[in-house]
Amino acid sequence: MTAVDLGRLRGRPLRGEIELPGDKSMSHRALIIASLADGRSRLRRLAPGRDVASTAKCLRQLGVSVLSRGSPAEVIVTGRSSASGGAAPGYLEPAGVLDCGNSGTTMRLLLGVLAGQDLFAVLTGDGSLRRRPMKRITAPLRQMGARILGRDDGAQAPLAVEGGNLRPAAHRTEAASAQVKSSLLLAGLFAPGTSSVTEPGQSRDHTERMLAAAGASVRRVSPVETEISGPAALKPLDLMIPGDPSSAAFLAAAALLVPGSSVTLRRVSLNPTRTGLFRLLARAGARVELRVAGEEAGEPWGDILVRHSEFGPLDVVASDVPALVDEIPLIGLLATRAGGRTTISGAAELRVKESDRLAATAEGLRALGATVEESPDGLAVEGPVELAVPPEPLKSHGDHRMAMTWAVASLVAGDGVKVAGSGAMDVSYPGFLGDLATLAGCRP
Ligand code: S3P
Repeated sequence: MTAVDLGRLRGRPLRGEIELPGDKSMSHRALIIASLADGRSRLRRLAPGRDVASTAKCLRQLGVSVLSRGSPAEVIVTGRSSASGGAAPGYLEPAGVLDCGNSGTTMRLLLGVLAGQDLFAVLTGDGSLRRRPMKRITAPLRQMGARILGRDDGAQAPLAVEGGNLRPAAHRTEAASAQVKSSLLLAGLFAPGTSSVTEPGQSRDHTERMLAAAGASVRRVSPVETEISGPAALKPLDLMIPGDPSSAAFLAAAALLVPGSSVTLRRVSLNPTRTGLFRLLARAGARVELRVAGEEAGEPWGDILVRHSEFGPLDVVASDVPALVDEIPLIGLLATRAGGRTTISGAAELRVKESDRLAATAEGLRALGATVEESPDGLAVEGPVELAVPPEPLKSHGDHRMAMTWAVASLVAGDGVKVAGSGAMDVSYPGFLGDLATLAGCRP
């Protein structure tokens, strides 16, 4: 495994502005919802990266036409859905196994759709995805009438599904998870009647917003309860996907940490269910500003302005977690520079992400010389501390967000920090190091 050395960027202030690649969560949903619509959808600024490519590849195996037009970031999707009550033909039974790669969103959302389709399909993924918990979707989908087999009684992939003839259900989920909620809402599209999902906290709501834009009957009963009525004929989408706030977070963190930095991150999704990190930083005194500039498919987008600054502890409690769930490793790193002790709790979900992100964060921060306590559902990090150069490269554990967290650390720790397994960044943000170099005034 190669280890990248970001030494040439170290300490160089980040300046200027940059447009972020399209949001990953929205891109998965746009492809899937378009695949179910009656007609041709146009999706612009689709997220690059391997995860969204996995969704597109699986949909092609299901007979959906997904064509790149001009640039790979613009695609035309021709929908095919029988159960929507519309005129489009249904998905085709896939001749091979659907490989979701590293992408939990692909596997969980597609399983919800396949549960409603009269066909047989098998879904698998890489080693990380095959370890991730799936009972949280297989159990409620079975309750709606889907037949699903999988390892450990459907707790882990590979999963085999025979869908069709779903009945509506009122679900209560144990964790606030947008993947689970979205899977169940998509299945609800195919069940005649009203289905609902109630969560312990509000997770990101792109699916609800985009389904409503496609004409589905989705109703937000409260921030944590959503109803959907099936069957529904979906209209095609014409979308410009705003930039990914979770990718923006890494550039923002780098700018906050490197003295002399001042950056503007343009055309980013500012959906409040995604911008928890920026609110937390602003509350802690960091110079971070969100400027809403427009709306697309019911989603606010705009610019994020960040300047190098000092900030206080970045405490996170359970109710904060859904809106910053993917940013917690980065919060751990930022906490080493905060003026005081940061405590993160209610974040046990991080243990079942692409890696155990609480353990991976604690391990890397300790290697950088920080004082960290790990608990079953969180971390406590002492700040401020000068970060040191670890004797070994920092490990990504094959997890894109860990790889990018350590790349940011290497900009401010002593000379010579290396990151092992940095190729994982390609899962969500293949241009990350290039964008960082551009802002640092170096050639990518
Ligand atoms: C996602 C939801 C979150 C997040 C993941 C993407 C989505 O996962 O961590 O990166 O697109 O719905 P959970 O739903 O498991 O919290």
